[in-house]
Amino acid sequence: MKKGVIFDLDGVLLSTDDMHYAAWKSIADELGIPFDRQINNRLRGVSRMESLEIILSQSSRVFSPEEKLALAERKNERYRALLQGLTPAAVAPEVRDTLSALRARGRKLAVGSSSKNTRLILKLTGLDSCFDAVSDGTNITRSKPDPEVFLKAADFLGLAPADCAVIEDAVAGIDAARAGGFLSIGIGDAAAYEKTDRSIRSLSELLEIV
Ligand code: BG6
Ligand code: MG
Repeated sequence: MKKGVIFDLDGVLLSTDDMHYAAWKSIADELGIPFDRQINNRLRGVSRMESLEIILSQSSRVFSPEEKLALAERKNERYRALLQGLTPAAVAPEVRDTLSALRARGRKLAVGSSSKNTRLILKLTGLDSCFDAVSDGTNITRSKPDPEVFLKAADFLGLAPADCAVIEDAVAGIDAARAGGFLSIGIGDAAAYEKTDRSIRSLSELLEIV
C-alpha cells in the first residue's frame, strides 16, 4: 500500500495533446519547419523550451536565445487561448471516480507535471479541489527524466518517495519516477515501456495496486 499517489497531468488525467500540437504546428508552419504528430509525440513530458529545441532541430537556421524565447512565448499564448475551451467535460468520469475512491481510502494525492499551465488546467477542469498538493513547471529547475518534480510533490505531501506511486504516460516520466525512488506505474505509451514497475490500461486499475 502506498500513502501517496502522484499523477502526471497531460496524458494521465486528461489530454491537451491536440492543443499543444495545434499551437506548435502554427509556429512551425510560420517558420517553414516540418512538424507532424510523430514529432509532437516526442514532446510529451518535455518542457516548453526543450520542446522548441526539438522542433528547431528540424531546421538548419540558427536561432538566437531571444528569438527562441519569443517563439516559446508565442506558442504559449496560442496554447493558452486554446485551453480556454477546456471544461470539466475534458476529464473522464473514470478519472474523477478513481481520484475520489483513492481519497476515500485516505491516500494523499498530488499532481507532478512539467507544465507551467498546470494550475490553469486544473482550475478550468474543476480538478483543483481533488489534490492535496501540486508540483509543476513553476517550481522546478530540471525537467523529467530528472526526478525533481516528483520529489517536490512528495515533499509537499510530507511523504517519502518510497511511500508514493507515480502515474505516468511518458517514458521520461517513468525514468524520473524510478530515479526518485517511487513506484512507477505506466499508462498509455508508458505502459509498454520495459522499465515501468507496473502497467495499467485505464486509471481505475490503480485501485488494485495502491
Ligand atoms: C507537459 C507536456 O505536461 O508540459 C509537454 O506533456 C509540454 O508536451 C510541457 O511541453 C510544458 O508545458 P507548458 O504548459 O509549460 O508549456
Ligand atoms: Mg504526460
